[in-house]
Amino acid sequence: MNKKLSTMVLSLCVASAASAQAPQLNAHNIDQVLQAMTLEEKAQMLVGGGNDGFVGSGSMLGHQKKLVAGAAGITVAIPRLGIPATVVCDGPAGVHIDAHREGTSQTFFATGFPVGTCLACTWNTDLVEQVGRCEGNETLEYGCDVILGPGMNLHRNPLCGRNFEYYSEDPIVTGMIGTAMVRGIQSQGVGVSMKHFAVNSQESDRTRVDERVSQRALRELYLRGFEMAVREAKPWTIMSSYNKINGVYAQGNHDLLTKVLRDDWGFKGIVMTDWIGKRADLPVADEVQAGNDLLMPGYPAQAEDIIKAVKEGKLDIKDVDRNVRRMLEYIVKTPRFRQYAFSNKPDLKAHALVTRQTSTEGMVLLKNDMFNGKAVLPMEGIKRVALFGVNSYDFMSGGLGSGCVNVPYVVDMVDGLKNAGVSTTPQLTDIYTKYVAYAKSKLKADKNPWMWFLDQGQPKLDEIDITERCVEHEVPEADAAIITIGRQAGEGMDRNIEGEFNLTPQEKQMISCVSSVFHQQGKPVIVVINSGSVMETASWRSLVDGILVAWQPGEEGGNAVADVLTGKANPSGHLTMTWPIAATDVPSTANFPSQPDYYGLTDALYDHRVKGVNYTDHDEDIYVGYRYFDTFNKPVAYPFGYGLSYTTFSMSGFSAKADGRQGVTVKVTVKNTGSRPGKQVAQVYVASPKGGEEMPAKELKTFAKTRMLNPGESQTLTMSVPRRLLTSFDEAGSQWKGEAGDYTFMVGDNVEHILGKTTVKLGAYTEKVSDALKPQVKLNLLRKK
Ligand code: BGC
Repeated sequence: MNKKLSTMVLSLCVASAASAQAPQLNAHNIDQVLQAMTLEEKAQMLVGGGNDGFVGSGSMLGHQKKLVAGAAGITVAIPRLGIPATVVCDGPAGVHIDAHREGTSQTFFATGFPVGTCLACTWNTDLVEQVGRCEGNETLEYGCDVILGPGMNLHRNPLCGRNFEYYSEDPIVTGMIGTAMVRGIQSQGVGVSMKHFAVNSQESDRTRVDERVSQRALRELYLRGFEMAVREAKPWTIMSSYNKINGVYAQGNHDLLTKVLRDDWGFKGIVMTDWIGKRADLPVADEVQAGNDLLMPGYPAQAEDIIKAVKEGKLDIKDVDRNVRRMLEYIVKTPRFRQYAFSNKPDLKAHALVTRQTSTEGMVLLKNDMFNGKAVLPMEGIKRVALFGVNSYDFMSGGLGSGCVNVPYVVDMVDGLKNAGVSTTPQLTDIYTKYVAYAKSKLKADKNPWMWFLDQGQPKLDEIDITERCVEHEVPEADAAIITIGRQAGEGMDRNIEGEFNLTPQEKQMISCVSSVFHQQGKPVIVVINSGSVMETASWRSLVDGILVAWQPGEEGGNAVADVLTGKANPSGHLTMTWPIAATDVPSTANFPSQPDYYGLTDALYDHRVKGVNYTDHDEDIYVGYRYFDTFNKPVAYPFGYGLSYTTFSMSGFSAKADGRQGVTVKVTVKNTGSRPGKQVAQVYVASPKGGEEMPAKELKTFAKTRMLNPGESQTLTMSVPRRLLTSFDEAGSQWKGEAGDYTFMVGDNVEHILGKTTVKLGAYTEKVSDALKPQVKLNLLRKK
């Protein structure tokens, strides 16, 4: 044999010996790969991070540079076994990656979709699924495998800093919208990470706060939306939250991650921690044992802890193997494993159209008074407006923190109106434009380096003082005034009542001055709310003629607002949360952080266990949102489900019939009785028979939205409610329990506006589940009697 041939034979032998020893991962040899893994490799698999052979590099702050710059993290590659790294990026309002990369002039902008609250307010599951398909496609085409969203926590309290990322105060809305989003994203062959599991209801002390809550409220409210989406949409991954639930960290909570999630609901994917979740008081072994498969992003010490715990007999290798198997099952599904050739060129133009349509559908018209003999909106004969409020000129497309998106542009109100043929008064526009440029550079110069989130989204700029003289100057030149009231919020901070939930003194002055001067001249005033969360309206709404909640509607914001104001789009959004008169009307406010200056708290304060910061008692129990206001007959500013249209609708022929499978089929015919095309939402509420647990006066059980109905046109909507949703949670028996008797079904277009009622007789129903997540302290639960 010549030398060259013998070298070739030798290298072939070596290669085949290596591959005989080390199987290369595929969908059918997971057990074999698992067997071939060393303990060190198994530990690596469970600790996410860098991609240079071991964990812990480059992604500590949720910003890794390798593979996809600006993605939140990666799972570890083990080339010996053909295991690639996979990439996870934030979520949930679009793909959060760096727009610019070193060494190339190519840009990597992602579409800014409406924030979760705005999406949910569409009540349009088909449209949300379409947004999901676009987001999934951008995830895929930018080389990511999982997007860290949707955000599925409940709006327990209007002051929570991250409510904008979540859908609703109601678990059924959360479950139905979340299911649609997961389906849409995963239809593209990438995964979601539904977050933050669970009860991540406040941001103050978010990494340690103990959410003390009854088993009933957990099952009926905080877990319900996750449960629906797990059962119906099969998410690839779930993110465990930072907080404790009844004394146990969610990320090390066997009850939550195994008994409830896997045993009760049949979840088959992986659980990953929220970011940098290493805790001094939570052994890594407990997390592995609890069913938390992936610690994100990783520290080398965490992998070492796993190895040590196994060697010392503190962690069963079977638990490690179980989690590693789940990781391998996840990896073989990913685009990276399939070696998908991503383009880095998603169709941003097509997705901009989707975001514009979706945001117009999620905007909620709160007020539309008669002005000079006709409704003030849609604007007719208004060709030039005086545009007040700094956010008219610095429109906020999304919130702060990991949920922000590096968008290619944000259409502000000036351009949005201009595109719709409405101009703005020149002097005011000039003053504000110059002020915004100044305020932005000042903010940059003043930046506190510890406030990392200032780089993560568009901070709110201070308002300008609006004087009577300024308004008097504008009034002759304008047909109407539009005032934008902006609010920003985000990760790591809750909102204050003063100045955030309530108006600032400057804003009050601006609204009253603009209204009085414009009204004296017979010209109307419209307020646009550019906020991801609820705010106070009751004290000032009578001063203005129209109020549109635009939320934080994504990059096409100004165009979408103009579509609604001018009537190109007829608003069909409805609130998915109550707008209370005062923040203190919400019962959980008593147990919510009264000291939202989280960064000002000292360790001493921590050690003293501050109520509402270090722990929060869910004394309001099941009475969250409208469940409280409706049951206790407390007035609100705008009720759950509320939203006006430029047309009118009737609902008739409402029926509810047992479906033979213990559930109920509901039908209602919606007719457009007005003069413009429009869409309407039928909301189905149920009052349960007496006899079992104390129940809210009524609870939403399902909903459906019509297609675009022309004037005079009708559509019959058919919906079904499974029996297991017509129950309450019986803690003593660890079961879902539905009483036998008459269930009153109601249909309406908000919780206070019921248009049809009927009853259905149902037999008793029970469904056993695990006894899990028991409170460790006695809570003082709110009850009617
Ligand atoms: C947030 C998550 C986010 C993660 C990665 C955390 O601080 O709570 O929502 O997905 O960071 O950026």
